[in-house]
Amino acid sequence: MDLENILSVTVSGMRPGEEDAVKKVLDVSGLHTSDLTPEKLRHFIVARKGEDIVGVVGVELFQPHALLRSLAVVTTHRGQGIGAQLIVSVERYARMMGATTLYLLTTTAAPFFNHREFRETSRADAPAPLQSTEEFKALCPATAVCMCKQIDRRAPKDRGQRR
Ligand SMILES: CC(C)(COP(=O)(O)OP(=O)(O)OC[C@H]1O[C@@H](n2cnc3c(N)ncnc32)[C@H](O)[C@@H]1OP(=O)(O)O)[C@@H](O)C(=O)NCCC(=O)NCCS
Repeated sequence: MDLENILSVTVSGMRPGEEDAVKKVLDVSGLHTSDLTPEKLRHFIVARKGEDIVGVVGVELFQPHALLRSLAVVTTHRGQGIGAQLIVSVERYARMMGATTLYLLTTTAAPFFNHREFRETSRADAPAPLQSTEEFKALCPATAVCMCKQIDRRAPKDRGQRR
């Protein structure tokens, strides 16, 4: 991994007209897109390298809880810290939107999330508004692992930025 590779990735909100490109990243990563509405896509974060979308993540907000979903990095750019960067960004966004706990379901990446302080929890114990999402009701199989993370304690590096 070189300096240029890391520094040239920018993370921001999804721009108008990027819906299809975002869905394509999810499609090729094996993640579902069938429930993605314009309203849900308003809360998607995109990692870009130049003009190319190299990673995405979304969040559904149910204050004080939120569902992290649709984390994907294109295969050619995996292992460069982009997934980790997207997690930091989505946690910050969810926190600023009033969420204190982030939940997710994953069939493929539990160790990745565990490394980022998400802990396995019972799917049945997830808050009711999350149980009614398409992810919980229909799209993620019963074998998916449910994980959660408390995000209301700001990281030390965030605390220094507030005045
Ligand atoms: C999971 C994913 C987003 C990680 O993106 P990434 O940019 O490669 O991740 P990073 O480079 O930030 O982190 C890499 C680290 O995670 C680990 N890692 C990556 N994917 C992993 C996985 N599926 N399971 C376990 N560990 C994983 C790497 O070994 C590495 O470990 P380290 O932090 O100890 O060095 C990417 O593999 C992906 O798009 N997978 C397909 C879609 C998916 O499964 N999404 C999650 C479901 S919501």
